[in-house]
Amino acid sequence: MTPLVTARRLTLDLGEWRTSGPAYRALADRVRILLMDGRLASGSRLPAERELSLALQVSRTTVAAAYAKLRDDGYLLSIRGSGSTLALPGGARGSQPLETGLPLDFTKATAPAYPGLAAAYLQAAEELPRYLGHDGFDMTGLPELREAIAGHYEARGLRTAPDQIMVTIGAQHGLSLLTQTLYSAGERILVEQPTYPHALDTFAAAGARMLALPVSAESGWDVAAAQLQIRRSVPSMAYLMPDFHNPTGLSLDVDGRARLSAAAQREGTVLVADETTAWLDIDRGTLPPLASFSSQVVTLGSLGKLAWGGLRIGWIRGPRELLARVLRNRPALDLGTPIFEQLVAIKLMADLPALTASRRRGLREGRDTLVELLATHIPQWDVHVPDGGMSLWINTGSVSTSALALAARAEGLAIVPGPRFGMDGAFERFLRIPFAYSAEQLSQGVQILAEASTKVGSSPLRMPLQAVI
Ligand SMILES: Cc1ncc(COP(=O)(O)O)c(C=O)c1O
Repeated sequence: MTPLVTARRLTLDLGEWRTSGPAYRALADRVRILLMDGRLASGSRLPAERELSLALQVSRTTVAAAYAKLRDDGYLLSIRGSGSTLALPGGARGSQPLETGLPLDFTKATAPAYPGLAAAYLQAAEELPRYLGHDGFDMTGLPELREAIAGHYEARGLRTAPDQIMVTIGAQHGLSLLTQTLYSAGERILVEQPTYPHALDTFAAAGARMLALPVSAESGWDVAAAQLQIRRSVPSMAYLMPDFHNPTGLSLDVDGRARLSAAAQREGTVLVADETTAWLDIDRGTLPPLASFSSQVVTLGSLGKLAWGGLRIGWIRGPRELLARVLRNRPALDLGTPIFEQLVAIKLMADLPALTASRRRGLREGRDTLVELLATHIPQWDVHVPDGGMSLWINTGSVSTSALALAARAEGLAIVPGPRFGMDGAFERFLRIPFAYSAEQLSQGVQILAEASTKVGSSPLRMPLQAVI
């Protein structure tokens, strides 16, 4: 059956949808953005016009005109008796057409492949024949790779045995495995707000109710709010990125690490520390890993941001008993991590200082270039300069970044609007700009954004912030 988007759900997802232009056009544009960045699934059914007009408190004519525009533009199919179904023009090419077709793609915070990567693949190919006697279904990881990963934690001061590591097909896969193992229907998951969008997708797919742990450039992690949420709602897990958080680039301070892990330990909430971004230090220096504060912290790691997204090697570090449960659940998702990529990963783990130094150089250049470009071309935006990570998380003050993303798209730049990083339409005025691009690409991107932001103008928030109590 076609899934229905209820009027209530759509109202939440639409968030601040009104602009200074005609209401029907603003509504159609916003639905189109939600569809394009994957927040509304192609094939899902929109609510009846009457229901949506009541929920949004607009006339039915407005909703009818918005639906008609979406239909004319090829984003909505109306079939008698089945209502109005969302569709991506050009057929089912996947849920993220933003990825394709545009000259500049700023939708992902990734960096180019490590220059030594091709050589690592060639060396791995030489070693592959030694592994071909094995059946190839490797559900825990090659012993040499698990040893190398454990050694990496030991070097960071965390006692780790190789059997506390399970190698996965990237950190995203590790997160799915952990969610499947730790979460049961009806429970809650505490998630940073903003956060990494595919974590939200993973939790939503599990049907989880999410609780927000606010993170902001001004005040960092709201640890007191998180402690309260943990005490009151006892979430089964809490997902956080303590080091160079995506999208803000911030790091949780030592005191916050200690307080959060103590609160979680008291209530039995498992803290999942996603360290995919932990390698991305530009000028911060080391901080103790979250797992050093409690044995109940489970850590996700990945070589995706350090070496290459296409490598697809990640891991889970956690208590043996938990890994045994994950292992029992794993065949429902996959039958093991590819051997060849693990051999490449072994080579890379032996070369970590060179990898991190190379990444750091690139990120520093990208960050400084982007900060300078923004100061020159869009000085009114409030830019917090992070000491690591791969992106700037910018408070535009008054720009609807959903409208901005649409306008930028028309000029050949794909970029993700702020609400994709939050729940229920939050962060409409925020924009993530990844900086691991060449100076030329960053310059083109910022020029497009500067022009687009002039075009879409600013619309003050309908509700002044001080009125929110
Ligand atoms: C915070 C975070 N976790 C996980 C992932 C996915 O990692 P992988 O490519 O290893 O699956 C990303 C990638 O963007 C990320 O930013």
